[in-house]
Amino acid sequence: MSQRIVVTGAGGMLGRVLTDQARRAGRQVLALTSSECDITDLESVRRHVVTGDVVINCAAYTQVDAAEADEDRAYEVNAVGAGNIAQVCAQTGADLVHVSTDYVFDGVFDGDRRPYEIDDDTKPINAYGRTKLAGEQAVLAAKPDAHVVRTAWVYKGGDGTDFVATMRRLAAGDKAIDVVDDQIGSPTYVDDLATALLEIADGRIGAPVLHAVNSGVASRFELAQATFAAVGADPERVRPVGSDRHPRPATRPNYTVLAQERSVAAGMTGLRDWRDALVAAISAYEGKTTAAGKGAAGQLPSTP
Ligand SMILES: NC(=O)c1ccc[n+]([C@@H]2O[C@H](COP(=O)([O-])OP(=O)(O)OC[C@H]3O[C@@H](n4cnc5c(N)ncnc54)[C@H](OP(=O)(O)O)[C@@H]3O)[C@@H](O)[C@H]2O)c1
Repeated sequence: MSQRIVVTGAGGMLGRVLTDQARRAGRQVLALTSSECDITDLESVRRHVVTGDVVINCAAYTQVDAAEADEDRAYEVNAVGAGNIAQVCAQTGADLVHVSTDYVFDGVFDGDRRPYEIDDDTKPINAYGRTKLAGEQAVLAAKPDAHVVRTAWVYKGGDGTDFVATMRRLAAGDKAIDVVDDQIGSPTYVDDLATALLEIADGRIGAPVLHAVNSGVASRFELAQATFAAVGADPERVRPVGSDRHPRPATRPNYTVLAQERSVAAGMTGLRDWRDALVAAISAYEGKTTAAGKGAAGQLPSTP
């Protein structure tokens, strides 16, 4: 019989998609929002996890800019909270899949830059990255057989506030927009990430650290242009600018492409190319809104 899946951070973007996908696959899921299980409270975590579960930790302090002024709180959630889950899993005999980030890397290379592999040296350059790296370390210290899964630039492209969703809304207007072209990474569709996490949770993959991102390479500018194109807007309305034109409280690394090769060699199914995933995300959203529109029309009172 397959293990029960416990999702922490189940109210977030990834947590919600993962929970839906697991339930649709017929899995038993205990989905815990932050109000149902605060991962910074060891006893709260202990109350929910039993022997034989697999916990997928989607809970995190994810506000990259706010973390600069609030690193203690970010550390409490991203490092202490992650460590709490690992400790409880180790004590109860539950499995653990913990989600981490490309921002554990600095994007600085001695020679030619290349995608980061799972065993490359980490060196975060902002508070969020430091606290997430501390979380990876706390997880593997308390539970060496846990999986730490790094991902990057996650989006759903729906009604939320992720990058693709924002670009989709801007595309519906008629203004030109400036988007940075000197941040380069691995855009990742949240549905594809959830599928990878469920595969990893099945426990047949050997490596403790894995990279789960859509394949290929994109700058924020290219991702914005591709989103405009996918919704039928003119990609030329997106103009490339440097990050210096958009100063933010947290410095972003300018190159954090994650390589999947070693993760695939360890047994993980590689994720599709980011452009195909983006088109799928936009189609899924448009399919849903069209269906909702039809449903609403169907409910209109008929003209007497
Ligand atoms: N989004 C990205 O681009 C991206 C990139 C790389 C890695 N990741 C990683 O992917 C994972 C999922 O991120 P996401 O994009 O789904 O973020 P999200 O939408 O911000 O979700 C994070 C969830 O964690 C919950 N949470 C915060 N503090 C908590 C606590 N103390 N106890 C329990 N739950 C708590 C939040 O609940 P409240 O809202 O109620 O506080 C929220 O539901 C995180 O580990 C993140 O670091 C994301």
